[in-house]
Amino acid sequence: MDDSFLDYLSKFLSPADIWGKAMEEFTGRLIEYHKFIGEKDRDEASELFEVGRALRSFGAPMESYKLFKADAEYYKYRGDDKRSWQQLCYAGAFANLGYPTKGIEEESLGYCEIQRREKECLPFLPLFLNNYAGILHIYREDYQSANALYREAISLMEEIEPQKYEEIVGREYLWAHKLISNNYIDSLLVTERNEEDEKELLRMIDIAEMRLNNTESEYARVLTLLNRAEIRARRGEEEEADKILHDIISNASDKVERFVRPAYHRIKALIFAEKGDRKESMKFMIRALQESGHYGNTLEETLTMRDTIFIYSSLASKSNVENRYQFYKENGLFDYLVSVLKIKDWFLGAEHSVNVSKTAGGIASILSMSPERIRLISTTALLHDIGKFVIPWYSLNKISKLDSLDWAVLRSHPAEGGRLLRKLGLEKEAEIVENHHERIDGSGYPNGIKDIDIETEIVAVSDVYNASITPNRKYRVPKSPGEAFLEIKNGKRGKFSRAVINGLKQYIESETT
Ligand SMILES: [Fe+2]
Ligand SMILES: [Fe+2]
Repeated sequence: MDDSFLDYLSKFLSPADIWGKAMEEFTGRLIEYHKFIGEKDRDEASELFEVGRALRSFGAPMESYKLFKADAEYYKYRGDDKRSWQQLCYAGAFANLGYPTKGIEEESLGYCEIQRREKECLPFLPLFLNNYAGILHIYREDYQSANALYREAISLMEEIEPQKYEEIVGREYLWAHKLISNNYIDSLLVTERNEEDEKELLRMIDIAEMRLNNTESEYARVLTLLNRAEIRARRGEEEEADKILHDIISNASDKVERFVRPAYHRIKALIFAEKGDRKESMKFMIRALQESGHYGNTLEETLTMRDTIFIYSSLASKSNVENRYQFYKENGLFDYLVSVLKIKDWFLGAEHSVNVSKTAGGIASILSMSPERIRLISTTALLHDIGKFVIPWYSLNKISKLDSLDWAVLRSHPAEGGRLLRKLGLEKEAEIVENHHERIDGSGYPNGIKDIDIETEIVAVSDVYNASITPNRKYRVPKSPGEAFLEIKNGKRGKFSRAVINGLKQYIESETT
């Protein structure tokens, strides 16, 4: 049955192929396969790597993570520690291509510590350091710590004998070295660099380029070239960057092209941003986003979002904008952010955001708030779920029962949304988004805090209300406005203050008459 699961997966190219009727069957097959991998007395699952890759390639990388963790357990149980470490390493890599939660981050750090202590694990250490650094660099934006880890990994690799490495780890030494150097370069690229860092970056690029002509996988080669193009793009050397990009696209195989396309357009967007052409830049960003969304390429989506925010935020600083909100609005950022949710959240995407904004704005005016506060509440409501953006497609749209990891992934969206808005300099909006699942009785998440302001409560109640009455929400049967209101009033969705409940009541009445 294991082989047939891989055959079954090969029918799918993108999330769109799974969505709808196929979703039920897909879910069932995945659960069945997971159960099989969890068995201790089975045969080896030789096709697991291909299965993991296939799942990752259409937006289910967290499922690949879970399968590899289970496989690591299997080998540990059989006393094959080497193989167990290997599978843990892959598990971490798949999580990094999806969304590494706080728990996964701690786990990742833990593996590094064990291996620093136990010398016989040494060949694996660079790969685990690379996984952990990737979390800090891509998801936490802690570039300094990430860079230190990448440096540790690279210098360790130089101590390991290539042949011995391949024997133990089962992967090409050069492949690993290149992977880590590319990540290091990527992190250096987005770091505020001092003179030392600048030298380091140039040195790393030289090494990467020198190794470019050696035998290696196409994927690693393309990664190096993409990095080269990105460096040129960020430096404003557009012709150079364009030339490299053109070469990549015209030589890429079909298999690699699906990864290359969105990165290609993301770098194009950077080129136009450098030139100050915001319009063209956004056109390419949206294209990059649609392509990565189409393929379920979560990491590329995250990078596209990171660059979009970077472009807008630096445009605002360059032009010394006083009112950032106005600037972003006039330059289409909010429309862009809402449209990207449509790509990710197939249950509650863009329409939900617009509805929540309408309800929240309505309640704020019923409560006679100032125009400025009404504006703040309706904009923030529009963006309240923007943090869902970093969540892999399958985790967001899953129709089966959620396990604790699924919940942890989903529950990261308020903090992630807050982080995005803070980078845009929208402090107050960020705070509301961070707390939109908190409740005044402490029954909310992620922190269970009780001290939340009325602006946040209005966004929260509008969110809950609209989610309850939306017909296509998979986990629930839609409620009528009256039923939804009663549930909220009776505290079934956590406690809300009386003023907010009254506001909602009047809003519903004004809507239904
Ligand atoms: Fe939310
Ligand atoms: Fe929501």
